[in-house]
Amino acid sequence: MQKPYSESCDQNKSPILFIIESIFSTCHEVLEIGSGTGQHAVYFAEKMPHLRWRCSDCEPYIVGINQWIDDSDVINVVAPVKLDVSESEWPVATVDAVFTANSIHIMHDQDVVNLMKGSGNLLNKGGHLVIYGPFNYGGSFTSASNESFEQWLKSRDPLSGIKDFELIVDLAGNNNLMLCEDYEMPENNRILHFKKY
Ligand SMILES: C[S@@+](CC[C@H](N)C(=O)[O-])C[C@H]1O[C@@H](n2cnc3c(N)ncnc32)[C@H](O)[C@@H]1O
Repeated sequence: MQKPYSESCDQNKSPILFIIESIFSTCHEVLEIGSGTGQHAVYFAEKMPHLRWRCSDCEPYIVGINQWIDDSDVINVVAPVKLDVSESEWPVATVDAVFTANSIHIMHDQDVVNLMKGSGNLLNKGGHLVIYGPFNYGGSFTSASNESFEQWLKSRDPLSGIKDFELIVDLAGNNNLMLCEDYEMPENNRILHFKKY
């Protein structure tokens, strides 16, 4: 079976690495939510060999993630776990960091509530939550391309869509997660970095 491939992963992996390598410099265990193809996991784990990188996603993605891991030489990506954030019990122990890319706008509002709650529960004090993707500010799109992207998302799934930055910060606060930095990224994306307090 041919490996799944995401062109956007190839394009955004090095700008994301540039930001997360300092955030994750003192971390050991990272959980990635919504790993998708598994490309990010293999790339980030190779570039940050001090980490144990745990992939996760909904069931249909697990086979492809394993293909990427098996075809790589990395030894610090741990077998992916099946994790849908809507589940009440997450099959993962405490980690130092949670990372997710381009998943929040695919998720329904309640999934995002669960993601923030689950991440807050998994992290110890001082742990990191890093979210990459597009966000709206003050209820407005940051670009015409994000607005067209939203129309495409809604045509696939009316309950998906780009989330408000302010909503994510509020949900974070409800789960003892404080915004440390909001990084501007290429193609009208952001990285939101939260720390557990
Ligand atoms: C656009 S893909 C992004 C994949 C990968 N992170 C990337 O950057 O290419 C969105 C991912 O979010 C995952 N996802 C959507 N809803 C989810 C949920 N409720 N729980 C866990 N993952 C979810 C999808 O399965 C998919 O892998």
